[in-house]
Amino acid sequence: NILILFGPPGAGKGTQGPKIEDLLGIPQLSTGDMLRAAVSAGTEVGKKAEAVMKAGGLVSDEIVIGIIRDRIKEDDCRFGFILDGFPRTLPQAKALDKMLAEEGSCVTKVIELEVPDSVLEERITGRWIHKSSGRSYHVKYAPPKSMKLDTNGKPIPDTMKDDVTGEPLMQRHDDTAAALTKRLHGYHKETIPILKHYEPNGIVRSVNANQEMSSVWTQILDALKRKE
Ligand code: AP5
Ligand code: ZN
Repeated sequence: NILILFGPPGAGKGTQGPKIEDLLGIPQLSTGDMLRAAVSAGTEVGKKAEAVMKAGGLVSDEIVIGIIRDRIKEDDCRFGFILDGFPRTLPQAKALDKMLAEEGSCVTKVIELEVPDSVLEERITGRWIHKSSGRSYHVKYAPPKSMKLDTNGKPIPDTMKDDVTGEPLMQRHDDTAAALTKRLHGYHKETIPILKHYEPNGIVRSVNANQEMSSVWTQILDALKRKE
């Protein structure tokens, strides 16, 4: 199983991916999480990526292809994996096909999470994440158990803690309205066109992701089962 979880910023890739992980027992590989880890660790890759990411631009194909090439060689990927945020450009899609072909495999399914641009700003600006696990929360749609609101109904930052570890949550540097505009522009210009690359194989499944999380999950389950 080699799955691509496809969709715009805030579509729910990071929310639904872990459920597929649990269901199929294959790891979710998020290039965004990997790049953020590289930035935190201050590696060469992190230094190159930091400013681009903060502004909502795309990191170079060369860097992300290199990251994925190394990651899919690891032992936990031998039964397959879920790609989140990769491929994002046509050269990335072609490079992926080539890497997989060398191993005698190919992309099994592309699950597209469809959400209108208009709902994404609220999702993105209300998001808090647990950095080390990549878990996403939302002040309105998925609040952490510890969340307390101030008198204006705004979450008190010190009370934003991960449900599992109790560690503090944080907001992403690129989760601003301005960076989102740029990310969405990139999504429409560079990323949407790669669906055409996969359509001839009949492996693209589109899901209405502008619904509550549990309904999105039900549709994903259905899309995973459907053969045609
Ligand atoms: P990346 O981390 O991949 O960010 P993204 O694609 O912009 O996607 P997000 O993580 O914002 O969205 P998501 O779909 O995971 O949403 P989530 O589930 O958290 O990339 C970041 C940056 O890294 C890029 O901009 C680029 O610079 C670089 N990069 C990464 N990969 C690259 C590549 N291949 N090539 C070049 N550069 C690359 O949900 C969002 C919020 O909504 C959460 O708060 C969640 O709780 C809430 N939510 C989720 N589902 C629902 C629902 N159904 N209803 C209500 N709320 C919901
Ligand atoms: Zn994500």
